[in-house]
Amino acid sequence: MKLALVGRGKMGAAVAELARARHWEITCMCGSDRPLARVEIEAAEVVIEFTKPEAAVPNMEQLLAWKKDLVVGTTGWMDRLEHVRRLVERSGCGLLYGANFSVGMNLLFHLCRQAGGLFAGRDFAPFVFEAHHGAKKDAPSGSARELERQLREGGQARSVPVSSLRAGRFPGIHVVGFDAQFETVTLKHEVRDRRVFAEGALQAAEWIRGRKGIFTFSDMLQEQSAIGNQR
Ligand SMILES: NC(=O)c1ccc[n+]([C@@H]2O[C@H](COP(=O)([O-])OP(=O)(O)OC[C@H]3O[C@@H](n4cnc5c(N)ncnc54)[C@H](OP(=O)(O)O)[C@@H]3O)[C@@H](O)[C@H]2O)c1
Repeated sequence: MKLALVGRGKMGAAVAELARARHWEITCMCGSDRPLARVEIEAAEVVIEFTKPEAAVPNMEQLLAWKKDLVVGTTGWMDRLEHVRRLVERSGCGLLYGANFSVGMNLLFHLCRQAGGLFAGRDFAPFVFEAHHGAKKDAPSGSARELERQLREGGQARSVPVSSLRAGRFPGIHVVGFDAQFETVTLKHEVRDRRVFAEGALQAAEWIRGRKGIFTFSDMLQEQSAIGNQR
């Protein structure tokens, strides 16, 4: 596999480390000080984008204009999703995005939807809490927003407060809770190493190569488990 990496921060470095361990070729690693270079990008089969919210959409516009299949891990641009969807359809390329490329968190999204229904109508106050390292730009995290959305989709009618902490070096902690008068139920996901996201990004790169259309990380996992169940 030939990859181009856009973003040379914590996630770009983690993806590069795992890709090299698999003997994949990295055609370029672009940062904010090194603009996208068409020749190096075109040499790649898939581009993985981990930058910052305000850079992600301009990068996608350029990369789709160059007809590259993309994996976008950057969070904080969901208000531009419809714009990006139209660009992907026009380009004839594939784009996979997700707020969280860990399998555990995506399973927690499903659990949350079920919990939203189970706790609905009972005297339990729902809440979401997340903690990340001090350099994370967006708050609440994309995953916390998705957990809250899943609770509502599952049937939770109460408003769900979402609280964020930015400090230290936490790669990511998310807690979904339901608090009643004399008891509390919590579901917790904690990342011990951001290589979990990098591994997800590499799986996503293999999956999106040659596909057309826009997909989520969860779409990929669902297809993989459906195939697994048929075996
Ligand atoms: N989907 C997931 O599973 C997942 C997991 C972890 C993180 N994330 C998200 O991924 C993003 C990156 O996280 P991170 O921890 O790697 O952040 P980071 O360490 O701050 O790295 C971001 C990198 O992007 C570079 N950059 C900024 N603007 C750019 C541009 N226009 N073109 C190319 N590169 C540019 C920055 O360069 P400079 O330092 O030179 O500005 C920096 O190297 C964040 O949005 C984060 O929330 C997603």
